[in-house]
Amino acid sequence: MNIIEFESKDQLGKEAAAIIARTMTAKPDAVLGLATGGTPIETYKELIQLHQANQLSFKQTKTINLDEYAGLNPEHENSYMTYMKRHLFDHIDLPHDQYFLPNGNAAHLEKECLRYDQLIEDVGGIDLQLLGIGQNGHIGFNEPGTPFNSKTHVVQLDENTRQANARYFSSIDEVPTHAITMGIASILSSKKILLLASGKSKAKVIQYLEQAEIHPDFPASALKLHEDVTVLIDREAGSLR
Ligand code: F6R
Repeated sequence: MNIIEFESKDQLGKEAAAIIARTMTAKPDAVLGLATGGTPIETYKELIQLHQANQLSFKQTKTINLDEYAGLNPEHENSYMTYMKRHLFDHIDLPHDQYFLPNGNAAHLEKECLRYDQLIEDVGGIDLQLLGIGQNGHIGFNEPGTPFNSKTHVVQLDENTRQANARYFSSIDEVPTHAITMGIASILSSKKILLLASGKSKAKVIQYLEQAEIHPDFPASALKLHEDVTVLIDREAGSLR
């Protein structure tokens, strides 16, 4: 696991976008695994800028998102589909039938998980998976205790996670209680992994990630089992190292 520290969140976002752009230049039909949340916003802004400067095209790219809330319509203002359209998809030339998120509104969530695993296989696997990290060490919505051999599954969200995400909803009661997430095994099957962390609120978890033993109680420790993981952090996230 290679950890690289940057002065600011902007610089971190620029470097993450540069790594993604290099992957796409080397393989124009690359499959990108994408994340939502506050952390990757600068990265997506930078990718949009590269696209607008005619330096990057997504015409042959496919994207597969990590997770989606259960019970929210994809059109809901807080769905991850809406987030991805707002922060990336609506501003680039990625064809509409080449981006994928789990359907959290599916009638049979378990069947939806199987469909999603099949989809990941059908597109030939993920070339580069972008990840954020929760303060409790979650990756995707894989909360502490998730087995490392898990594939896409339905999860009950931690109170901690619901509270962290309540900032996007009008009250905590509106934050969904469940979500669909790619599992730890799905994440580890990506060829390359890029984890981003920024801000003081991530300092403890980054300190812990460096020292932690590999154990399901700390889901991000599973990344130590993968041979190509780059962790980009800003100075605040690195302040307790
Ligand atoms: C989002 C996701 C989550 C977030 C994590 C950090 O798709 O899977 O694991 O990456 O909760 O969220 P932020 O970036 O908001 O701190």
